[in-house]
Amino acid sequence: MSEWQELEHKYFMPTVERTPVTLVRGQGVRVWDEDGRGYLDFVGGWAVNSLGHCHPVVAEAVMEQVKTLIHTSNQFYTIPQIRLAELLVQNSCLDKVFFGNSGTEVNEGAVKLARRYGKHYLNGAYEVITAKASFHGRTLAMVAATGQAKFQEPYVPLPVGFINVEYNSVEAIKVATTSQTCAVMLEPLQGEGGVNLPDEGYLTAVRAWCDQKGILLILDEIQTGLGRTGTLFAYEQYGIEPDIMTLAKGLASGLPIGVILAKERASVFTPGEHGSTFGGNPLACAAGYATLKFIIEEDIAGNARRVGEHLASGLGTLKDKFPFITDVRGRGLLVAMEFSRDIAQSLVTACLDKGLLLNRLKPNALRFMPPLVISDEEVDEAIGILDGALLNISGG
Ligand SMILES: Cc1ncc(COP(=O)(O)O)c(C=O)c1O
Repeated sequence: MSEWQELEHKYFMPTVERTPVTLVRGQGVRVWDEDGRGYLDFVGGWAVNSLGHCHPVVAEAVMEQVKTLIHTSNQFYTIPQIRLAELLVQNSCLDKVFFGNSGTEVNEGAVKLARRYGKHYLNGAYEVITAKASFHGRTLAMVAATGQAKFQEPYVPLPVGFINVEYNSVEAIKVATTSQTCAVMLEPLQGEGGVNLPDEGYLTAVRAWCDQKGILLILDEIQTGLGRTGTLFAYEQYGIEPDIMTLAKGLASGLPIGVILAKERASVFTPGEHGSTFGGNPLACAAGYATLKFIIEEDIAGNARRVGEHLASGLGTLKDKFPFITDVRGRGLLVAMEFSRDIAQSLVTACLDKGLLLNRLKPNALRFMPPLVISDEEVDEAIGILDGALLNISGG
């Protein structure tokens, strides 16, 4: 353990099991540790570094903004947030925005918005139906929304108003819907919960049910949005539009940001009903604007789709080679590989040793979420390293 890592153990609450490497620098899809060792980064800041590390377009925008205006309060108009809001609205099916600082914060805001909608239009309905195996964040209400016992049990009792039902079952949503329901909230495809894809027709059936009942559909695109799954937003691939959508992770290349977007009719906050001190600050929004503009103009979602297919096919070849690989699934550059045994951590460690950073999704699954600007060659390099690690583990 390095000196820095010893200090971390001394001072930090142990909320995360860190990979034993201290990163000091990043460029493109590579990062370097304190001893100068380079790594291919397939963790990508947990799906944040869409343009890779320190992309010049973002670095320049941030440097310019940091010299100009870092923060005011939302008592005043500031230009970077207005430019970013316009770009988001012009490139999505939503009409209005609210800026926060993180995924969990904007998801919580989205639920507040749905409750306001319930008060206005649904006789005070306040319940939100969410899916099992979902992940919506770490605040208490978002832990209640997150349908996973491991996140909920340490904190019971949880805030009321969330019903977790089976993912991929519109029937379960129908059964859970009551006169108190104001919204259904889903990830179009579940990230943290296992890279679980929606069944054919699921999201359209949920959309139709929400329309029939007059309740809102909130899509949490915090992990799937901004090109990650091969289109700017994942909803585009399923022929539906949400009433409310949340974004965060990949929007500002690593500066903290989150957004609630809503259709005009669902945009029911009035002054004073919601707020955020840092939300929409000029620095994060300048980074967000530079990132999103680049994603759109350079068709980075298209790159994610094309290179994502290359990644899936490379991982598929490994699946054919190693019988203990039971599944490869995903969309674009959000892909999981599942095993019949709990070998994910050993693989993370073995690949780290060979210069590849991977994410252990579950004891028996890995997740791949590299920067969206990655090339086929860089994917091939990673597959080669993983192939070697799999070979060692299989005793070959
Ligand atoms: C789908 C989804 N929603 C919400 C969150 C929470 O975001 P944050 O960690 O920025 O609060 C995450 C984080 O992984 C996520 O994947």
